[in-house]
Amino acid sequence: MTLHELETRNRLSSTLAPGASAGVVHRPRRLRANPAIRAMVRETELNARDFIYPLFVRHGTGRTAIGSMPGVYQLSVAEAVREAEAAAKSGVSAVILFGIPKEKDPIGLENFAEDGIVQQAIRAIKKEIPEMVVVTDVCLCEYTDHGHCGILNTGEHFHAGLPEGYVLNDPTLDVLAKVAISHAECGADIVAPSGMMDGMVAFIREGLDGAGYENLPIMSYAVKYASSFYGPFRDAAEGAPKFGDRKSHQMDPANVREALREAALDVQEGADMLMVKPALAYLDVIRVVKDAYPELPMAAYNVSGEYSMIKAAAANGWVDEVKITLEMLTSIKRAGADVIITYHAVDAAKWLK
Ligand code: PBG
Repeated sequence: MTLHELETRNRLSSTLAPGASAGVVHRPRRLRANPAIRAMVRETELNARDFIYPLFVRHGTGRTAIGSMPGVYQLSVAEAVREAEAAAKSGVSAVILFGIPKEKDPIGLENFAEDGIVQQAIRAIKKEIPEMVVVTDVCLCEYTDHGHCGILNTGEHFHAGLPEGYVLNDPTLDVLAKVAISHAECGADIVAPSGMMDGMVAFIREGLDGAGYENLPIMSYAVKYASSFYGPFRDAAEGAPKFGDRKSHQMDPANVREALREAALDVQEGADMLMVKPALAYLDVIRVVKDAYPELPMAAYNVSGEYSMIKAAAANGWVDEVKITLEMLTSIKRAGADVIITYHAVDAAKWLK
């Protein structure tokens, strides 16, 4: 339309009597007229039951604030129980546990120790709040002294064909299966392997089945990117790599076709639920994976960096925390997530009431 035509049209429409129709046929605004109509046609509805609330558990007593994650704490076992109770009261029905061990070593022995911190927390939460779904993160990085997600190519494990310090895949699988079985023995409801090792779902499945836990579901971090959005988490869980990065096992943020391959392998290996992580910058990935496997429940991890960016902006008065958080969580669900792991879980559940 030329500028002249536009001006002519505007002049015409401005001459319409108030309330008179300009002959517009399609008016989507009809269904936005008031809150009741908008609610009636709303396609996506958030619910407290959609959320999984992450808890960081450490030895000792009390709680320690995490500087880069306002409102999130490292918790003693007793405090973790208290936090899980608060979650239950707000309507949140699941937590995911991360442990900070007393001591770290090359393979992370506390990760599968009977009296390990996560093991204690699982038992305590299941005892006090049996109906709470307890999910556990199964990975090595918070437990190893080098901060990597697996056994490194060095010392007795050295494999001449691979670079020094490379995260070894198959030796790591043994440890992951031990960790999953140990969590199962304490009463975990779901295990969530997050290490992005090849074959980890099949190996863990076989280990669980062999130990008599064939009914324990695996929620696989199937599509996990090598993302800078994990920055604050590495403070919280004290699991930053001491050297290098995670790019030899976590996915390249540039890839989406590869997400389908990762998801296909995990489905084939017996994953009961799939996860995409992070969430906000990867909504397209959530959608593609959901469309490929509509029959499987899909989780998305609204990660630490996504949380802390909102907290920082809200603290400055630049955004409205309540509105922007609910909008973001709704978008993650709209993209295809059935379940959202989020540090905002308890707050969001309260805001929804
Ligand atoms: C690995 C793990 C990480 C997160 C969850 N599980 C860290 C990583 O892969 O580096 C990050 C979660 C977040 O950023 O909120 N155990």
